[in-house]
Amino acid sequence: MRNLLTVLMVVSFFVLSGCSSKSLETPGSIPQPLPTVPSDYAGKTIPSNADVSAGANLFKTDCVTCHGENGHGDGPASQTLDPRPANLVDLSKIAADDFLFWKISTGIDGTAMPAWKGILTDQQIWQVIAFIRILK
Ligand code: HEC
Repeated sequence: MRNLLTVLMVVSFFVLSGCSSKSLETPGSIPQPLPTVPSDYAGKTIPSNADVSAGANLFKTDCVTCHGENGHGDGPASQTLDPRPANLVDLSKIAADDFLFWKISTGIDGTAMPAWKGILTDQQIWQVIAFIRILK
């Protein structure tokens, strides 16, 4: 009886630890509700002529390492990051243009997410956003 209990405890330990290591493989969480966009950025909308294919190229060069080919937060570097890169497809469903433009411009302090303002032009950031919008 005692042995059976020990076996059960050992088994449940492995089951539980299996679950927690699995959650480490899921992409970073998206804050909900999303933080309020500061006034410098609030209300900005994507230019209707934003070039999606230019955005696709920029995304490949600048974002895929962390966010993954399809923006799912699963790029080659993602496993080593804490917090993990966001799933941009999930985020895109709930975030307005101004939110994305703000976050990509200013980055996120204390995480691997760089500020792209000054590296990419505003036009290029909009192109990247146009590409994120078509990811599935
Ligand atoms: C070096 C790794 C890295 C690169 C390169 C990178 N990101 Fe990120 N990004 C992150 C991480 C990590 C987070 C999650 C931060 C958090 O959870 O607070 C993030 C978060 C984001 C967010 C979500 C912000 C939020 O508040 O949820 C957006 C949007 C984003 N990245 C877009 C991009 C775009 C577009 C590029 C390319 C131009 C890019 N990232 C390049 C690591 C990276």
